[in-house]
Amino acid sequence: MSPSAPPATAPGTWWQDAVIYQIYPRSFADSDGDGMGDLPGITARLDHLVELGADAVWLSPFYPSPQADAGYDVADYRDVDPLFGRLADFDALLARAHELGLRVIVDLVPNHSSSAHPWFAAALAAGPGSPERARYVFRDGRGPDGDEPPNGWRSVFGGGAWTRVTEADGRPGQWYLHLFDAGQPDLNWDNPEVRAEFRDILRFWLDRGVDGFRVDVAHGLVKQADLADWHYPEEPVSGEGTEGPRPPMWDQDGVHEIYRDWRQVLDGYPGERILVAEAWVQPAERLAAYVRPDEMHQAFNFEYLEAAWSAPAQYAVITRSLAATDAVGAPTTWVLSNHDVLRHASRLGLPVGTPRPRGIGIGDPQPDAVIGLRRARAATLLMLALPGSAYLYQGEELGLPEHMTLPDESRQDPTWQRTGHAERGRDGCRVPIPWQADAPSYGFGPTDASWLPQPELWAEYALDRQRGVPGSTYEMYRTALRLRRDLRLGAGTLFWLESPDEVLSFRNGEVTVLTNFGEAPVPLPDGAELLHASGPLDGDGRVPTDVTVWLRTP
Ligand code: NOJ
Repeated sequence: MSPSAPPATAPGTWWQDAVIYQIYPRSFADSDGDGMGDLPGITARLDHLVELGADAVWLSPFYPSPQADAGYDVADYRDVDPLFGRLADFDALLARAHELGLRVIVDLVPNHSSSAHPWFAAALAAGPGSPERARYVFRDGRGPDGDEPPNGWRSVFGGGAWTRVTEADGRPGQWYLHLFDAGQPDLNWDNPEVRAEFRDILRFWLDRGVDGFRVDVAHGLVKQADLADWHYPEEPVSGEGTEGPRPPMWDQDGVHEIYRDWRQVLDGYPGERILVAEAWVQPAERLAAYVRPDEMHQAFNFEYLEAAWSAPAQYAVITRSLAATDAVGAPTTWVLSNHDVLRHASRLGLPVGTPRPRGIGIGDPQPDAVIGLRRARAATLLMLALPGSAYLYQGEELGLPEHMTLPDESRQDPTWQRTGHAERGRDGCRVPIPWQADAPSYGFGPTDASWLPQPELWAEYALDRQRGVPGSTYEMYRTALRLRRDLRLGAGTLFWLESPDEVLSFRNGEVTVLTNFGEAPVPLPDGAELLHASGPLDGDGRVPTDVTVWLRTP
C-alpha cells in the first residue's frame, strides 16, 4: 500500500478556516442497493462536496462492528466492516478525495471498544485480576453477594453504567463499566498497553494517508481514580455545568497527557494532520484546554450549537468562544448539526429557549417547519461568516429537517430501549439523504431499500430539485461557501458593530454581517451593497425577521 498524498494545493494550516463536511456512511450513498450506505457510494459522490465548496470530509465510523451503536462500538480498529466495503475501498475513497483536493478525517473511538473486540473476549475468558481484564474497567460488585454495581454511575444512553458478567465457572462475577451501551465496554487508559495500542492505530491510518482524526468522547477516557460515586441523576452525563463539583467520569485533567502524546505522533508525519475533540465540556475555557498548542487542533463548539436563537445568547456564545480559543492561540470551530442532535432546521423551529430535545417522534410536540428552516438558513449564514473552521452535517445543505414521524419500531438508537422509551433518540437525524426526487430511495441507492425509512416529504428536499434553483437552500450554501473562501472570512477577525437589541451585527474583513432576531424589519445601512442573504428582503428593501445578510458597506 502506498499512502495517499494530501492535496498539494492546501497551505500548512488548512484546518484553521476549513469547512469540514460530515459524512455519516450509513446514510450518504448506497452503491449496492442493500439499503445501507457504503464507501464506494461515498467515493462516487465526492464531487458533490467539491461542487458545494467544502474543504474536507469527516467520516463517521466504518470499522467492523456489531453496530450496537451504529459503529461507535468498534470490534477491529484496523479494518472496514463488510457492510461498508473493504479496506481497498477506503484507500480508493481517500485517493479520490485527495485527487479532488479534499482532506479526509476519520473517526477514532478510544473511550470504549465493542464487547465483540478480541480484547474483551480475552478479558472475559481470563478472569478477575488478569492482565486481560486490566485493559478494561472491571470491579467487584458491592453488597454481600457482589450483586450491586460498584457505584451508581449512569449510562449516557440510560440505565446503569455497569453490567455484571458470568465467570468461566458459570457463576455471576465482576462488573464492567460502560458509560454508553453495554456493548461498549470502557477501556482502561491507566494501562500502558491501551495507550500503546492506540498510538499504533493512529499510525495505521496515518500511514494510509488520512489527514486527521475526530476523537470520540475525548473528555471521557480518564476516570477519577477512586471511581467516586456521583449523585446527580438528573444530569448523569453532562459534566457541562459551570457550577458545582466536576463529574468523576468527564473532563479529568489526565486526558490532556494522552493528547499531547498523540500530537507528537501526528507531528511526525508530513502535512498538517489534525486531531478534533468531541468533548461535551463547558465552560469554553475548559474546552479550550483541549486545543492548547501541543494538544489537539480543534474541538467541537457544542455550546454554540446549543445556544438559544436570540441576539443576546448568540452574542454571548460567539464572544466567549472566540475569547477562550484566542487565549490558547487556537482558532474557533462552529457547528449547528451532527448525527447526535436534532437537525437545526427542526431544532430552531421549537419555541426559543427549549432545551435540546433527545429526539422527537409521533405524538410529541412538533417544531414549526417554516420558522425552523428560515432560522436555520439565517443561523447558517451567520455561522459561515464567523472566523474559524465550520462543520456541516450531510443534508443540512438541503435544509433537511429531522424525521419526526419515524415509526418507533424502526428505531435503532440504543437510547430508545435503554431509557425505557422515554427518549426517542437520534435516528431522526440519521435517515438516508435525498439526491433525486423521482428515484427509488430518492437516489440514496439503486433500490427502494433504506435502513431507516425516509419520509414522504423527502422529494422536495432532493438535491436535483434545488440545484440551479435561485434561492434554494443548496444554492444559498454554495454561494456562501464561495464568498467565504473568496473573502477569506474563515481567516478573518470579528468586530462587533452597534445595533438595536434584537439585531446582531459584526464586521469580518470587507463584509458586514447582520442578523435580525426581532419582529420589526431592519433597514440596510446607507449605501450598503447586498452580497448574500438567507431570505428575501421585504418590499422596502429591509431585513425581515430571522434573516441574515452579508453586505459590503462604504
Ligand atoms: C459520540 C458519538 O458521536 C455518538 O454517536 C456515540 O453514540 C457516542 N459518542 C459513543 O461512542
